[in-house]
Amino acid sequence: MPVKPRGILVAGNWKMNHGVQETELFFHDLKKEYLTFMELTDSALFEENRLQVCLIPPYLVLERSKALLRDAPFHVTIAAQNAHWETKGAYTGEISGPMLREIGVTTVLIGHSERRQYFGETDQTVKRRAESLLEQGFQVILCLGETREQYESKKTAEVLSRQVQDGTPEAHHPHLVIAYEPVWAIGTGITATPAQAEEAHTLLRQLFQKRWGKESAEKVSILYGGSVVPENVDALLTSSQVDGVLVGGASLKAKTFLSLIQAGARILR
Ligand code: PGA
Repeated sequence: MPVKPRGILVAGNWKMNHGVQETELFFHDLKKEYLTFMELTDSALFEENRLQVCLIPPYLVLERSKALLRDAPFHVTIAAQNAHWETKGAYTGEISGPMLREIGVTTVLIGHSERRQYFGETDQTVKRRAESLLEQGFQVILCLGETREQYESKKTAEVLSRQVQDGTPEAHHPHLVIAYEPVWAIGTGITATPAQAEEAHTLLRQLFQKRWGKESAEKVSILYGGSVVPENVDALLTSSQVDGVLVGGASLKAKTFLSLIQAGARILR
């Protein structure tokens, strides 16, 4: 059995998918199918926080998702896909921490590669958002990872080192989670091999050790993301360095998402 010192977090990022109707269907299915996938004793894994589940839907259905989960058989954290570093002001199209807190959302995804690629997010803005939200009491899932070009020109180590240096908080925070997502693996069907994921995660932990010290680096959860599906999740989660998965496409259907959660439970049982 693989050792999971930091437990397992299964996070699903819906991106710009699922409006109100599809969200209702998703949670209906999730609740209905729960026991087809999970064992009764798995509830202990959730209660002890060894297995955690997070869903990251569009802003528009955050409240609806929370309401639909009220009678769910297990706890799912509902998180936002981004939030600004300022608490209010003239920032059209942005959402602030206090707005999210008002509806009970306390986890935020920051620095997803699609934000970096299409919306000009940089290491500097990622760091700024993350530091401000952590200070405001949020849990932050901060994404980083190299592009295909950088990967092909063997610059992964250099890029990760720069992203850690310039794009992560100066100090470790217990509510910070890192998601390593090689951009060449996102939505492409090409997954990093378990060995590649382990290598990158080990390097990241070394970089965090330099930045924050050994004790903090050992505590931070590092998720893997990029074309995770039920067929490859077990192998990826086998590494003691992989503390969970951040999933896009495979989180859109309740049954597929449940089979990823089931894989997490199987490893922890
Ligand atoms: P994917 O997306 O699982 O569809 O590759 C992962 C992500 O972008 O977080």
